[in-house]
Amino acid sequence: MINFKELAKKYDTPLYVYDFDKIEKDFLELKNAFKARKSLIAYAVKANSNLSVLKKLSELGSGADCVSIGEIKRALLAGIPKYKIVFSGVGKRDEEIEEALKLDILFINLESEAEMQRVEEIAMGLGKKARISIRVNPNIDPKTHPYISTGLHENKFGVDIDTAKKMYLKANNSSFLEPVGIHFHIGSQLTKLEPIKEASQIVADLTRSLIKIGIDIKFFDVGGGLGIEYKDETTIKPYDYAQAIFSTLKGLDLTVICEPGRFIVGNAGYFLTKVLYEKVNGDKRFIIVDGGMNDLLRPSLYKAFHKVEVLDRTGDVSKADVVGPVCESGDFLAKDAELPKTEHNDIILVHSAGAYGFVMSSNYNTRARAAEVAVEKSKDRIIRDRESFEDLISKERKYI
Ligand code: LLP
Repeated sequence: MINFKELAKKYDTPLYVYDFDKIEKDFLELKNAFKARKSLIAYAVKANSNLSVLKKLSELGSGADCVSIGEIKRALLAGIPKYKIVFSGVGKRDEEIEEALKLDILFINLESEAEMQRVEEIAMGLGKKARISIRVNPNIDPKTHPYISTGLHENKFGVDIDTAKKMYLKANNSSFLEPVGIHFHIGSQLTKLEPIKEASQIVADLTRSLIKIGIDIKFFDVGGGLGIEYKDETTIKPYDYAQAIFSTLKGLDLTVICEPGRFIVGNAGYFLTKVLYEKVNGDKRFIIVDGGMNDLLRPSLYKAFHKVEVLDRTGDVSKADVVGPVCESGDFLAKDAELPKTEHNDIILVHSAGAYGFVMSSNYNTRARAAEVAVEKSKDRIIRDRESFEDLISKERKYI
């Protein structure tokens, strides 16, 4: 059991705390679920890119799914080998492509014909052959929040099947491109198996037809998206997830890559914030805390639910909104949460904050970003210092 109150006292708030033992357990569960085939878990760095988190995952054998050269550099710094790194994203700059090619990562995921042309030209300039994979958009509704759904044609991600075929043929005839993989990702926080299986079937069928015409696909990248329990969602078991994908791959000898982010770190992370005051406006009760939307954006941005509790307080509960100090009406961490009466300096624990928490934080209202702490085998350590005012202004020209 993590003593959150002690940690709040020791490191102050707002604070992110990550349970590294849980990260290990969940990572290994997923890794084992895929062990019946050649496979690679390429952790989606965007979910939580702290170097210590990446190092922990690197030690467990993880690869990395990166969406910027910055994320690639983080992964390498943390010890993830280059041959386990893939580079995705709809808008890669020329410099990023060039650097990724020089670094010789496993492959670059392409999301458009225009991008393929850029990659080919840059590879030619370097006298290299770029290993590529193409992100196919299977036009499947993942039945998740529209902001995090990506596998429908109305989304900006990937290319349709016919375009993908055309691109593979072209790439196969190029001296500077080597098509080695195929990729899809239909959305995030997926809680239903059927859309994943359907997408996998469509992309597996395409893979078979590509192999038939001599395109040597070696990697079948199923993206990320495995959902977690925030409230009372029924989630997909890693074993069932892997089996559903395997069932679409009969007769194919491929390495399966999966790119989970949220599943690995989401429920291993907590956000701690301190109560400043309570107030009542009409019959609406507010608990005002020292952490806000600049620290944890998900509730404001997606109306996402995060379970909250007041540490060491019992007694009668009533509905309250937990709101931050940022000057925006949309600055809240929880709405209508049933909470006991609080006092100044009580600690509120926000659950499921390990994924898309700190990484989406900002300095809005000139607020320093929170510190991050790891707890591993009952020992805690700081893994990112709290920002100071000096950090916040360090890039500004002060006297012009
Ligand atoms: N692979 C690709 C190509 C992705 O676009 C993503 C997430 C992942 C893997 C990892 O997905 P995960 O396993 O974490 O679901 N900020 C939003 C989530 C955005 C997800 C973007 N792509 C949130 O807070 O819910």
